[in-house]
Amino acid sequence: MISQNSIAQVFETARVEEVIGDFVQLKKAGSNFKGLSPFSDERTPSFMVSPVKQIWKDFSTGKGGNAVTFLMEHEHFTYPEAIKYLAKKYNIDIEETERSDEEKAQQNTKESLYLVSEYANEYFQKILHKTDKGKAIGLSYFKERGFAEATIKKFQLGYALDEWQAFTDEALGKGYKLEFLEQTGLTIVKDQKRFDRFKGRVMFPIHSMSGRVLGFGGRILTNDKKAAKYLNSPESEIYHKSKVLYGLFFAKQTIAKEDNCYLVEGYTDVIQFYQKGVTNVVSSSGTALTSDQIRLINRLTNNITVLFDGDAAGIRASIRGIDLILEQGMNVKVCSFPDGEDPDSFAKTNSLEEITNYLKENAKDFIQFKASLLVKDANNDPIKKAETIREIVNSIAKIPDAIKREVYVQECASIMDISESVLFSTLAQISKKEFQDSSKKFKQQQQKAFEVVKNAEQSKRKIDVQYELERKIIEILMLYGDRKEQFEDLILKEDEATGDLILEPTKHEARVFEKIYLDLQEDEMMFTNDKFRELYYAIVEKLHQEEDFSTKNFINQLDQDSASEVTSILMEDEKYNLHDWERNHIIPKEKEHSVSQLVSQTILSLRCYLIDLKVAEYKNATLNENSDSQAIIEDVKDYVGLKMLLSRKLGKVIG
Ligand code: CTP
Ligand code: MN
Repeated sequence: MISQNSIAQVFETARVEEVIGDFVQLKKAGSNFKGLSPFSDERTPSFMVSPVKQIWKDFSTGKGGNAVTFLMEHEHFTYPEAIKYLAKKYNIDIEETERSDEEKAQQNTKESLYLVSEYANEYFQKILHKTDKGKAIGLSYFKERGFAEATIKKFQLGYALDEWQAFTDEALGKGYKLEFLEQTGLTIVKDQKRFDRFKGRVMFPIHSMSGRVLGFGGRILTNDKKAAKYLNSPESEIYHKSKVLYGLFFAKQTIAKEDNCYLVEGYTDVIQFYQKGVTNVVSSSGTALTSDQIRLINRLTNNITVLFDGDAAGIRASIRGIDLILEQGMNVKVCSFPDGEDPDSFAKTNSLEEITNYLKENAKDFIQFKASLLVKDANNDPIKKAETIREIVNSIAKIPDAIKREVYVQECASIMDISESVLFSTLAQISKKEFQDSSKKFKQQQQKAFEVVKNAEQSKRKIDVQYELERKIIEILMLYGDRKEQFEDLILKEDEATGDLILEPTKHEARVFEKIYLDLQEDEMMFTNDKFRELYYAIVEKLHQEEDFSTKNFINQLDQDSASEVTSILMEDEKYNLHDWERNHIIPKEKEHSVSQLVSQTILSLRCYLIDLKVAEYKNATLNENSDSQAIIEDVKDYVGLKMLLSRKLGKVIG
């Protein structure tokens, strides 16, 4: 675990504009920076970075947060990965908290395996580009396959000399331990002898989602029928085949942006597609797709298009794995290539436009595709047809969404020329457990969908004064909560001469959050908006505990929902400026005036508003015949009097 100390240091040092500046072109706009959203395709910039507040907000997608959340969103890093990335960028030594010896040993092993793999990756590239043999054999092979120099560098392709232990010797000479060379599979140890596993092969390094080398695939260059065409690194503590997708490191951004992922079979398919400009492409490297791999994609998009080589046997074998994708609620399309072609060869001989057109025209919904394929198979054989029905219904049953299931039943009935009721009853026969599972998932999905609707409603709501004021209070707390300010409080007094009640101004110093907290408590004012109330308590508690309150640290500790709420609060007035506020007579002018004034005015505005509510309430009550109208009128008079005092204090005349 990274120590709190190091995390704090990273937050201290990292500048959000510098971090984002590595990925997005930012232009100065007032006190902020502006740029094109990296999360959508837009022409006019709606992406804002505030160096003062150390946060960013993307108005086109609603995302927002601090430097760390940016890296998590954009690079799809986990939290520790983001922290480590920043530490590296700012040359901060990460301090890890105490771990047990066992954990340490394991961590050290893993770290060593990473280092060895990193070294091997550099080595194979060096051989490819810098040695005569590498250039003559490896590089010319890649060129022949149509890979440009830039592509070869991008994918860090390499070459392993055709010698028994050239790599192993060099690695040992550099001080890498045999133990780790063996564990990564780079070296095979047999009866005291050592062999380079990848001898004489061109090398494809396999990266983790964050770009670390986990293992390799090596392609043979000879026509030796006995040797495997591709050799891959064995499973190790850092390389778990079933949890890795080749190309994901390079593809993740476009997958999210295009909201679709192309899945191909091999290394060269990925590279050729990428080179042609279809960059949202990954490969399961020849093995059957696993749930873990699908989950990796599912973090980025809900849509997947599986691309098949153009041979029929391959298609039939591959469609079995696709039910797994359906199970995760993803939308699956499939697309096959002309006979004898694979994505690699097709991309090599066609232009980007031809490729995208082909994909557009030939990608079919998976269930429909499977249904028509099965119909062809079954022909007029009734037994086969029954089997076919069961098989297609099996796929449909995997879909968690009941509405989608129903639509598919209808479509397949027509494709397969059978009645819907046959399909429905087959669907019903499918094991109860599967049904229960899917309905559980469906419920969770419904829940999610409901939350989305709820949120949408909240954001659609018109300017609601109380809502805006509560939001404003959160903003003030976030920005100025820990400041010490001079406040002028009004103390209720009886005027000695006239006997009237007056409010006498008295000055005192307080921290902004204390002032707000006490004022709200005094009036028994409570936030009506759940989210704001939650945030309010969280901020006040934090400010209470820490002398040094930092917005970015705070945002970082919030759940994603709240963090995004807070960033929009902090950024919104940058976008809409203050004119909306003025127009709606909510908050008086510039907040630069002084923080204490802003605080007082906001709270006073809220008080005025609540008084208005009360008065309205009383007015309604007087319509009720049974009520004691005299008493009510007195109360109203008191409130109106109070409001006049407050308004005067606010510097506004009541109209
Ligand atoms: N594969 C493997 N081991 C093999 C054969 C294939 O791991 N013996 C994996 C590789 O990841 C390969 C993918 O399966 O990229 C697809 O195999 P295939 O279609 O045979 O290879 P291509 O990628 O078409 O390879 P090439 O074009 O280089 O012949
Ligand atoms: Mn191929």
